[in-house]
Amino acid sequence: MYNTLNTKEQMNMKEKNSDIIKLSVPNKPEYVGIIRLTTSGIANRMGFDIEEIEDIKVAISEACTNAITHGICQEENFNVDFYTDEEKLVISVYDNGKGCLSDNIKIPNMEELKEGGLGIFIIKSLMDDVEISSNSGKGTLIKMTKYVGDDF
Ligand SMILES: Nc1ncnc2c1ncn2[C@@H]1O[C@H](COP(=O)(O)OP(=O)(O)O)[C@@H](O)[C@H]1O
Ligand SMILES: [Mg+2]
Repeated sequence: MYNTLNTKEQMNMKEKNSDIIKLSVPNKPEYVGIIRLTTSGIANRMGFDIEEIEDIKVAISEACTNAITHGICQEENFNVDFYTDEEKLVISVYDNGKGCLSDNIKIPNMEELKEGGLGIFIIKSLMDDVEISSNSGKGTLIKMTKYVGDDF
C-alpha cells in the first residue's frame, strides 16, 4: 500500500493521538501529593520508565509548590494541564497570582548555595524543555516537556 501522506499530514495524524487533561487545584500543600499521583499515572501509561517518572514527579512538585507559595495569595485555584502524544508529555502549571520579576528566576550560583531557590534549577535539570513566563500581576506559567524514550 502506498503511503500517500506527506510529512505534514503524518504530523497531523500524530497529533490526533494526543490527549489533554486539565486540573484546577486548590492552593493547599496537601494537594501536591494528588498531583504527583495523577502525574505518575499519566506518565506510566505513556511508557516512561520508573526513573523518568520519579524525575517528572519531582519537577511537578516543585512547580506546584511554587504556585502555592509564591504565586497565589488568596484562596484560589491554580491549574495543571497535561498534554500527551506519542512522543512527549507537556505539563503546564499556571497561576493567576502576583507573578514575579523574571530576575528572580535564574540559575543559582552553585558556590553560593543557600537554602531554597533551587526549584526552578531542579525542574530544568530533570525535564527536557522548560519555558517560564511570569508577568507582574498576571501570574506565572511554567511549561515543561519530557520526551518518551529519548536520552536528552
Ligand atoms: N508561581 C510563581 N509565582 C511567583 N513567583 C514565582 C513562582 N515560581 C517561582 N517564582 C519566583 O522564582 C523564585 C525561584 O523559585 P525556586 O527556584 O522554586 O526557589 P524557591 O521556591 O525556593 O524560592 C521564587 O523565589 C519566586 O520569587
Ligand atoms: Mg520553589
